[in-house]
Amino acid sequence: MFHLLRVSMIERITDDAVAVTFAVPSELRETFRHTPGQHLNVRYSVGGEEIRRSYSICAPAAEQPGDPVLRVGIRMVDGGAFSTYALKELAVGDQVEAMAPMGRFVLAPRPGHFAAIVGGSGITPVLSMASTLLAREPLARFCLIRSDRTASSTMFLDEVADLKDRYPDRFQLVTALSREEQAAGLPSGRLDHERLTGLLPALLPVADVDGWFLCGPLGLVRAAEGALRALGADRSRVHQEIFHVADEGTATPTATRVAAPSESRLTATLDGRSGSWPVQDGESLLDTVLRSRSDAPYACKGGVCGTCRAFLVSGEVRMDRNFALEPEETGAGFVLACQSHAVTPEVEIDFDR
Ligand code: FES
Repeated sequence: MFHLLRVSMIERITDDAVAVTFAVPSELRETFRHTPGQHLNVRYSVGGEEIRRSYSICAPAAEQPGDPVLRVGIRMVDGGAFSTYALKELAVGDQVEAMAPMGRFVLAPRPGHFAAIVGGSGITPVLSMASTLLAREPLARFCLIRSDRTASSTMFLDEVADLKDRYPDRFQLVTALSREEQAAGLPSGRLDHERLTGLLPALLPVADVDGWFLCGPLGLVRAAEGALRALGADRSRVHQEIFHVADEGTATPTATRVAAPSESRLTATLDGRSGSWPVQDGESLLDTVLRSRSDAPYACKGGVCGTCRAFLVSGEVRMDRNFALEPEETGAGFVLACQSHAVTPEVEIDFDR
């Protein structure tokens, strides 16, 4: 369900990125409390076309009974309709529709040693995690390894520097710039599998870290995941969120292609109400549901954000690509409705689980 929120502040944080803060009306205070790492799905109409995007919340999570602060980072994406709009036209006072914060890439404050490897705008959810954790949990430590192109393109430089000043003993920062030499720190170049495999053991005891958070472009997240696996990190402690999947060529098919039946029927439950509809040729389960239920949840429609996650109650589906669900989730029967196509004549899914 979408709620109208008013833009209360827009800050230019790099040449191609802004931080947008939304005012939360008092009656929606509980709805918009977030767990560090979650994102907001926004909906806006540009030129008569409805656009949906998900943006991670960068602000620390508010303690009860404080007001939630909804500040998101938005970086301009080439050809990205909402990011272009946000950077060029969005103004304080404008209203944007947003769903309650969601996402399972989260770190609720707890004692322990945590680390993140992020690239570009992947810093956004991790900034919320680190700042909330360090402020609330004196027995927690956080190591942030970030990569970007240049210092001037690096988002939230001041906020991260502030964490370093405030928590010199508990916050460790390593920055790698791919296109610029740095005065101190790592030599320039991308963070790839080889570099990470050499760097990580020198920074921290990899296998003892309680939680790893990988966030950024697909290439970096895959490289970091591979390096952590090679260094003995427990798979269950590695969490990831991918921003931007460059092209179709990088898709990871999750099932072999199976011919679709000539006629399928989809039953779906959403917000406690069920419906049943014929599946039209080639369409995804999400599109089938959307024809009758405009409240069906989605944002990217590209298999990346996980908003359309549903439980497969019965039948079989083919998922084209999946950059959002963890193996445990697919193993437990969850699918991405935007990427799933009916393989059996009857399919039933449940968005409420
Ligand atoms: S809508 Fe984003 S993964 Fe399906």
